[in-house]
Amino acid sequence: MNTAPPALMLGMMRLHETADLHAPERLANWIEARLEQGLDWFDHADIYGGGGRNERLFGEALRCRPGLAKRVRVITKAGIRMDRGETKHYDSSPEWLAGAIDRALSRLGVERLDVFLIHRPDPLMDPEASARVLDDAVRDGKVASLGVSNFLPDQWRRLQSALSSPLQHHQLQLSLTHSRPLFDGHFDALCQDGQHPMAWSPLGGGALFQGEAGRALEEIAARHEASPAGVALAWLRHLPGAPVPVIGTLTPSRIDTLGGEAGLTLSRREWYALLEACRGHEVA
Ligand SMILES: NC(=O)c1ccc[n+]([C@@H]2O[C@H](COP(=O)([O-])OP(=O)(O)OC[C@H]3O[C@@H](n4cnc5c(N)ncnc54)[C@H](OP(=O)(O)O)[C@@H]3O)[C@@H](O)[C@H]2O)c1
Repeated sequence: MNTAPPALMLGMMRLHETADLHAPERLANWIEARLEQGLDWFDHADIYGGGGRNERLFGEALRCRPGLAKRVRVITKAGIRMDRGETKHYDSSPEWLAGAIDRALSRLGVERLDVFLIHRPDPLMDPEASARVLDDAVRDGKVASLGVSNFLPDQWRRLQSALSSPLQHHQLQLSLTHSRPLFDGHFDALCQDGQHPMAWSPLGGGALFQGEAGRALEEIAARHEASPAGVALAWLRHLPGAPVPVIGTLTPSRIDTLGGEAGLTLSRREWYALLEACRGHEVA
């Protein structure tokens, strides 16, 4: 990223479920309100909503408000195919990736993708061939920076070895409900390789607030006069490299709260108490 990483990013995976925001004018108002809060990163993928639907909805909103496209920063991903009537599969072929970048630009109505990520590692990927189209997209100004999502170290290093451009971003599942990457070397490896971490489903898709984990979050949140969700994001932000949570809610009041609370300071003891409550056991 050229500027300081944001405190959070706004995930667009659930946009098709929010009918209220489907009219371009309404979505444009919603986007402008987020920009006024200082939240200008929007995370897309070609599969969100099915067949590019959420990218298209977003693009219609940008087109209806002059100047708006220049004020947003967009991430999108490609490489998972869920074509109707076909086996779900990964496709990192040069043809598919090159087409996916062009389709995303046209659906979103932006001049350039700020970040393009390969969504999942594809065992059939030919790294040299895929790297060529990614480098071309950067050289042609279609993509500002590249990254991967859900790759293991050997998988991204193989791709990186064929690329001229650096893989600068990594979107991984990381939260109190999914802390494994912190203990199996995955998170350290991506930081070591200079990739900026973005944490998807930082609230476990909403499942984080139940059981023992929910109780521990409530208790620490009360101590800080904050919300359990805000504490869960602050927990992530304490990690070295300050992973950027990609949140899924589109509800303005929730986004407001999270934006204000993601920077809370937790003590080391509180951080480990949350980890213990979520894993169900203390550290060894
Ligand atoms: N790279 C990948 O492979 C990948 C995979 C999955 C997702 N993602 C990205 O990550 C983004 C976020 O995923 P996610 O939606 O699972 O994230 P999340 O932020 O962990 O979960 C969002 C869900 O939590 C619910 N929720 C319940 N209480 C909440 C509270 N107090 N504050 C905020 N939300 C609350 C929300 O409900 P309401 O909607 O009713 O507010 C929403 O259904 C996606 O939009 C997508 O951009 C990437």
